[in-house]
Amino acid sequence: MENMFDINTVEIIKKILKDYPNRIVDVLNSLGERQQISKDWLVEKLNSYKYPFRNKLKKDSISIMLLCSWYGLLAYKLIEKFNIKKIERIHCVDFDPKSKRIANKLYRKIDNENLKNGVLTLIKHWERNIKDMPEKEFKNCEILINTSCEHLDQQTIYDTIDKTERGTLVILQSNNYDKIQEHINTVKDLQEFVSQYQSRLINIEMHEKDFLEYKRFMILGLKRW
Ligand SMILES: C[S@@+](CC[C@H](N)C(=O)[O-])C[C@H]1O[C@@H](n2cnc3c(N)ncnc32)[C@H](O)[C@@H]1O
Repeated sequence: MENMFDINTVEIIKKILKDYPNRIVDVLNSLGERQQISKDWLVEKLNSYKYPFRNKLKKDSISIMLLCSWYGLLAYKLIEKFNIKKIERIHCVDFDPKSKRIANKLYRKIDNENLKNGVLTLIKHWERNIKDMPEKEFKNCEILINTSCEHLDQQTIYDTIDKTERGTLVILQSNNYDKIQEHINTVKDLQEFVSQYQSRLINIEMHEKDFLEYKRFMILGLKRW
């Protein structure tokens, strides 16, 4: 029974509860089992995506941009498991001013361990509304990921893809869970999700995961030439 709970995790949760009491449920939701599964699934399918994206063969390391990144779980999954190339930088973009501060608390120990082990991948948090991001901010990213499509109006998602360079690998997740008020843009099935992006992406790989109450959909494709 001595190690029944991971004490470090308990301490982090206590600290977040103290500093951000209104956020604790959201933070725990962001780390829940389905979140872990969805993010692991994304990295697994990214690692096996078979088409070469922009700069894959040209550069030693690449940059990844995560739109609507919440508290950054996916960034840490990528550092741990992405195996195609060295990651130069991960930009986490979210308009929530607390995202960065809470992420720093959640992942401080992992950051320190990574540093100690020579894993020097830089995660940068940008407090931005993705609607307001100028084209130049997308120029350096080779992989653009947005796992929050159900939260965004369709034109906003299109505009971000349109601002990327040709050949950028775009990865999107959405779902058919329309019982939550904030889910303003769910899709009924994988086919509908894919059809929204066929004019913008080529070499599309599509995946579906069944969580019983709802399904999660994912597509990977290259920004059209
Ligand atoms: C509930 S969370 C993520 C849910 C998603 N299913 C996932 O697993 O990634 C949605 C995030 O999108 C962010 N967000 C929503 N609209 C945004 C926008 N226009 N610009 C930047 N961030 C946005 C919110 O602040 C929040 O952190």
